[in-house]
Amino acid sequence: MEKTCKLFIDNKPFEFKVEGDFFWGKPELLYQQQDNVLSKIPWENEGFNCVKAFEDPDFLKLQESVKTIIIDALKTNNVAADHKSFDLKDYHNYVTTDALHNQVISITRSLETSDFDFDIDLLAKRFGNILGYKLTSYVEELKKSHIQIRISRPNSLDINPPHRDGYLSFWEDIVNVWLPIAGCNEKSSLPVVAKSHLIPENEILRTESKGAKINGNIYNVPCILETKSGEIKMTRPNPKEGEALLFSPFLIHGAAVNENENITRVSLELRFPKQKN
Ligand SMILES: [Fe+2]
Repeated sequence: MEKTCKLFIDNKPFEFKVEGDFFWGKPELLYQQQDNVLSKIPWENEGFNCVKAFEDPDFLKLQESVKTIIIDALKTNNVAADHKSFDLKDYHNYVTTDALHNQVISITRSLETSDFDFDIDLLAKRFGNILGYKLTSYVEELKKSHIQIRISRPNSLDINPPHRDGYLSFWEDIVNVWLPIAGCNEKSSLPVVAKSHLIPENEILRTESKGAKINGNIYNVPCILETKSGEIKMTRPNPKEGEALLFSPFLIHGAAVNENENITRVSLELRFPKQKN
């Protein structure tokens, strides 16, 4: 059934069409309040925070390696981009059709950490120190680390729906990490719903996993259409380059529309499970 997903980002209304079967859940809270990876920090109730992730040279190295990966993905699709003159923020001037964009993201969706020039375990350690838990980059159920480049062109529907990653079993006991790489600002960075990890399932209207379609694309994560308190109200924490947005997998996030007129947004997402002793 086609519905209109209406939401607010920093008080501005947005809407887009979503196809799916929507239902209210059971009276249960999926966010585990005992010994959660966020249990030891003062912002547990908010469900998210921006923290320092990199020293400048390390951030620049990571940014360069994302650029190299995207240039290679363009080359694979017969689009020439020169490393010197190509700027990630201009991606939409090189990729001018949805079909080509889908080809590129089919590559950036299936990367390994070894494709990037950065030390993922150092990052896991750094965030572990902040949270007071040992983290690992290895996701047991998937038998690998998770790293994904997200690219959102201006004036596009390059977004996933508002959702929680925690509905997927392998993302229940992790911390979500969102890293700005290029073009991330107050008009494009990832929106979240503060405190929404504490909303019980009977107050959430959503689809099943793989049950929502936007603009012809089916998403792995369920789409959350609204909560008992009505339309979804999101804010953009807007971490700066070199910082990371850390958040609970049960925090509602997504719908990261890029409102910049002429800047592509590029970000990186990682997920760090709590290390089991
Ligand atoms: Fe997500």
